[in-house]
Amino acid sequence: MKLPLPLLLLSGTALIAACGKPAAETTTPPVLAPVVVVQAPPAAEQLRDIHSFADPAIARVTHVDLDLAADFKQRRLGGTATLKVEADGDEPVLTLDTHGLTIEAVTDAKGKALPFSLGQEVEFMGAPLKVTLGDARRVTVRYHTQPGAQALQWLEPAQTAGKRKPYLYSQGQATLTRTWVPTQDSPGIKQTWSARITAPADLTAVMSAEMLGPEPGKTPGTRTWSFRMEEPVAPYMIAIAIGDLAFQKMGERTGVWTEPSMLKAAAWEFADTEKMVAAAEALYGRYRWGRYDLLVMPPSFPFGGMENPRLTFATPTVIAGDRSLVALVAHELAHSWSGNLVTNATWADFWLNEGFTTYFQERIMEAVYGEEFTTMQMDLSWDELQATIKEMGGPTSPETMLHIDLKGRDPDDGMTNIPYEKGSVFLRTIESAVGRQRWDEYLRSYFDRFAFQSQTAAGFLADVREHLVKDDAGLEAQLQLDTWVYAPGLPENAVHRRSVALERIDKDAAAFAGGRALEGDAGKWSTSERVRFLNRLPRELPVGKLEALRKLLDLDNQNNSEVTFAWLRLAIANRYDAAIPQLERFLKSQGRRKFVLPLFTDLVAQGDWGKAQATRIYAEARPGYHSVTTGRVDTVVQSKP
Ligand code: BES
Ligand code: ZN
Repeated sequence: MKLPLPLLLLSGTALIAACGKPAAETTTPPVLAPVVVVQAPPAAEQLRDIHSFADPAIARVTHVDLDLAADFKQRRLGGTATLKVEADGDEPVLTLDTHGLTIEAVTDAKGKALPFSLGQEVEFMGAPLKVTLGDARRVTVRYHTQPGAQALQWLEPAQTAGKRKPYLYSQGQATLTRTWVPTQDSPGIKQTWSARITAPADLTAVMSAEMLGPEPGKTPGTRTWSFRMEEPVAPYMIAIAIGDLAFQKMGERTGVWTEPSMLKAAAWEFADTEKMVAAAEALYGRYRWGRYDLLVMPPSFPFGGMENPRLTFATPTVIAGDRSLVALVAHELAHSWSGNLVTNATWADFWLNEGFTTYFQERIMEAVYGEEFTTMQMDLSWDELQATIKEMGGPTSPETMLHIDLKGRDPDDGMTNIPYEKGSVFLRTIESAVGRQRWDEYLRSYFDRFAFQSQTAAGFLADVREHLVKDDAGLEAQLQLDTWVYAPGLPENAVHRRSVALERIDKDAAAFAGGRALEGDAGKWSTSERVRFLNRLPRELPVGKLEALRKLLDLDNQNNSEVTFAWLRLAIANRYDAAIPQLERFLKSQGRRKFVLPLFTDLVAQGDWGKAQATRIYAEARPGYHSVTTGRVDTVVQSKP
């Protein structure tokens, strides 16, 4: 076993005795962590971002000003990035992150050339661009992107909803911004930014910033859109989309952008967004970004959502027609505090973004939709966490630690259920130990103390100790803070909220599998109930049962991506040929990695039967996917063209 940290595993001896009375909802989790003595990496070391070439102690970018034109024919963004820099020392060298950029020139404010060199490409990192600054504190990089820039997806009209106009969008997190913007691409180096974007006049450009409106571009047939972000943000939050976009207002501060044909459905689905913003503010303080709009993406968007400031990017696969999948909005909105305001300083602490956000998301959902609905979702997440820990090799696997070692790896490898679900259960556990009121007061003050800064695990734990634990030795022992953050598995104080409604579903799943009558009325089940039912069925079912299931849940005629996904996994496990057309349609109609990757993985796991299907379907679906999705699926299906 490879352990990235000096972890000494002691079996049997409880080092940290649980004390204080257990909270009512505390149950013993099925996957227990071994008892460990935890050694955290030193606080100063935790600040170092191994996924960036930048050396901010010598020269640090404070503002990025983009002036770019979008060329859809050549699939190229080109123009300038002008960087404001703070630098120290005699001969300061500014080191920027780039990945696949063609650098045409580097000049100072007066247009005088500055010496620069582009280093070797390193896997998962790109190439450092080193600029000898002299007296210059303003640096203009003239450059253009490559057609294959990983952050960018250039869509043909046929790949859009409207089918008439092309589309471009970016996905920056974790380290892809450097494939279209030459800057210090580290979440610990926050920068304000501004942009002028020139695009064909019949398209609209939006960005994760305040829009200052279009004016006629210098070239005929173009318009130039201006944007500004006056708060310092991590570079992965710089985002752009250009397409045939329309806007509909939802509330005072909220609205939705998307292609015209999707607008009505999107605005209906997300009508509760304004309520969510209000609920979030009531919990953890003022929303600090002005507007909160959504951009509903083309179906190839590789994620469920991306919390780009002021403008969340969201997959159209959450438009179920019944508002049942809007937890995604609560999630991306919550990032306006955890992630965008207080940001993980490095990708080792991705859980500070996602664990806090998942917790906060659940609190928003509870405030807007009530406890029962939210408890169901939390219980489903608990299942996923258990499954993930098992898949990762069990509770001693270093991959199950919150603070993880990503040395020599793509930070994207850290995007598992662990940071999300283990992270949020950690915060639940603290909440349950200190009481909701005290915890909420603490969290609110935490967001205020660290607003517009970056944070490490060590920083968070030190702050909890200073402002919440305050030398209470009993509480300190009860919480097991270091075990949570620096040890694998799930500590034994983990809080699991069980849903009574889902327990009933479990009984019905057992009844169905055993050929008995159901107690519940499947026709009235919510999305969470249907998903739980499907996931709790034995993985092997006779064909007759699969056919009965299709009727019971009307699986051929429903529009819910989560239900479809759960069903297709079960169908693949049974090599159920009758579901292949539906599987094929699903895999070709959207490119969300969370759905696409497990389905191809499941297929390939089914030997020749599945491999043949996977190869055939992937060959046709792949051109429609974003690089973030193909990057992973390629390694599974192994059909890199
Ligand atoms: N920030 C993430 C998406 C992300 C993570 C992109 C890491 C790139 C690297 C976003 O907030 C997220 O978690 N999305 C989830 C939504 C879900 C948890 C509601 C997704 O895409 O599935
Ligand atoms: Zn998230």
